[in-house]
Amino acid sequence: MTRKLFVTTALPYANGNFHIGHIMEYIQADIWVRLQRMLGHEVNFVGADDTHGAPIMIAAEKAGKTPQAFVADIAAGRKPYLDGFHIAFDNWSSTDSPENHQLAQQIYLDLKANGLIESRVVEQFFDPEKNMFLPDRFIKGECPKCNAKDQYGDNCEVCGAVYAPTDLKNPYSALSGAKPVLKSSEHFFFKLSDPRCVAFLEEWTQDGRLQPEVANKVREWFTVRTNPDGSKSEGLGDWDISRDAPYFGIEIPGAPGKYFYVWLDAPVGYLASLKNLLDKRGQDYEAYMADPALEQIHFIGKDIVTFHTLFWPAMLKFSGRKTPNNVFVHGFLTVNNGEKMSKSRGTGLDPLKYLALGMNPEWLRYYLAAKLSGRNEDIDFNADDFMARANSDLVGKYINIASRAAGFLSKRFGGKLGSDISGDGDALLEHLRDGAANLAELYAEREYGKALREIMLLADRVNAYVDQNKPWELAKQEGMDSHLHDVCTVCIEAFRLLTIYLKPVLPALAAQVESFLKVPPLMWSDASRTLGGGHVIGEYKHLMQRVDIKQLEALFEAPAAPEPEKVLPGGEELAPTISIDDFAKIDLRIAQIVNCEAVEGSTKLLRLTLDVGEGKTRNVFSGIASAYQPADLVGKLTVMVANLAPRKMKFGVSEGMVLAASHADEKTEPGIYVLNPWPGAQPGMRVR
Ligand code: 2FM
Ligand code: ZN
Repeated sequence: MTRKLFVTTALPYANGNFHIGHIMEYIQADIWVRLQRMLGHEVNFVGADDTHGAPIMIAAEKAGKTPQAFVADIAAGRKPYLDGFHIAFDNWSSTDSPENHQLAQQIYLDLKANGLIESRVVEQFFDPEKNMFLPDRFIKGECPKCNAKDQYGDNCEVCGAVYAPTDLKNPYSALSGAKPVLKSSEHFFFKLSDPRCVAFLEEWTQDGRLQPEVANKVREWFTVRTNPDGSKSEGLGDWDISRDAPYFGIEIPGAPGKYFYVWLDAPVGYLASLKNLLDKRGQDYEAYMADPALEQIHFIGKDIVTFHTLFWPAMLKFSGRKTPNNVFVHGFLTVNNGEKMSKSRGTGLDPLKYLALGMNPEWLRYYLAAKLSGRNEDIDFNADDFMARANSDLVGKYINIASRAAGFLSKRFGGKLGSDISGDGDALLEHLRDGAANLAELYAEREYGKALREIMLLADRVNAYVDQNKPWELAKQEGMDSHLHDVCTVCIEAFRLLTIYLKPVLPALAAQVESFLKVPPLMWSDASRTLGGGHVIGEYKHLMQRVDIKQLEALFEAPAAPEPEKVLPGGEELAPTISIDDFAKIDLRIAQIVNCEAVEGSTKLLRLTLDVGEGKTRNVFSGIASAYQPADLVGKLTVMVANLAPRKMKFGVSEGMVLAASHADEKTEPGIYVLNPWPGAQPGMRVR
């Protein structure tokens, strides 16, 4: 039976570009979607920007843009990431779309008609200069427990205390610095504590649709919850879904100046993006959603489970809508052992930089897939491991199979596959075909790591078969043509099967293979058959490069410092960069000027006698006579180049060089300054 699937990923806030964590989630969902499509199922896979809320409104103001223009600029930057990593959303919309305004308002009205919206007056901090209520993270002050300064309104980063913003000592607005005042305002609440909601959620979250570890966590929330002041209460609390103007959001019908809290309209954006897609295609949204066979699936990270397993299903259920069939939760991604990422050292792994370096997006898809499972555990991107996986699995095991066989087939047999494969080769292909059902199941359960390990075991079997049959030797032996033909045919048939199994992860590579094999787009069901004798394949072209260590080094290198001014105040361009090894070739030493005298016949030079701790002195001529009297220098310490080849000059041999600073143009900018170490340096010490 054909499944009808509606699949989403979490909607990213429209206040920054994608980071590698977003890309991981999209790749996870994209692999799942591609598998379902290969199985012949119908999928609509949609995303959108999450545009509303105070932080985005404030960021837009700082950037000097309207919030609409601000989020539009962010949206314009999405495509290179999605195309670059082969993430095939059917639609990308925005939570500020007309569809979302309309749907969010309708859902609210339906909940209200169902008696689940309540209004209450609450007291909150208000910024009298900005004329707005302050969200918790825009109120700062001293921690009520440890008195640490500049702590946020919800918890202390120094002692970890949790409290309400009104508990802060000397609170101030992070927006204006003003002292906030308490002001009351009417707020709307979604009554999650209503017995109907509680009963529904206790069932919905525990009926097996959620991952066991997620269901267990959610169960705790039914018994206790943590209040803003850190105290505990029993059961589910009501949810404050309104904010006062000014707010970038969707107006609450019948309540002028009140807006939906961003988290109310954000998940509605899933439906709005779908509706936007179906409208464009001329399909009926209501009819599509009304089909009982439709499965609604959300991929999300573990930080937003509450919203997706309590608020969102309850909103849908009690507004008379379909609830999600599954919420697939993944863990976080760290980079190179969770190393902290900072601005100056780059963002850990910048997805656009990865692409700009010419790194193959399918290496990353493969590597992340190899680490992913159906559980919500964290995974780490490790550069060495990444290189090993891509090179040894993809190139060494998989691609190698085609490259070992294709040449013989085209040169010796006109690219035509042999018929009547029997014996070992036939058994091998049958073994490969037998894997199809189990592999599809592993993918469907998001056990991508397990699936890829199985596939690589199959590739190992094929390579062992090649090693046993040695086509390169058969090719040299008389009368072995037909055996060679069989072996190469088995390789190509096997390669095709492995390509089917890898296609959800490596869609672009699979497309190249399809054209090389001259076959239509591979579906999962194609694993039950063979190409068969007589099929003619195309010319083999190299399919995948290995990861080059230099690319990884460049990927994790800190962004280059801004270009220096070409001509420095010294009047000279900076010399080309040298390595530390180049620098180490110059042996700089502290030297004591034990004697100094004028050079007869020269107005420029002074003759220096230097002690560099060698048990003998050196004779050095230096062009500093315009700046120093010999008596100024005697007894002083300076720095010399001690390993400069001796130079024969008009007045004698110079055995080194003293360091001095000067402008490039000594005529217009006179002045020479001999270097002098700080007190404590001793003759003979190396300068490095
Ligand atoms: O946590 C986030 O990044 C949110 N923007 C996710 C929203 S998911 C959905 F509800 F829109
Ligand atoms: Zn504290």
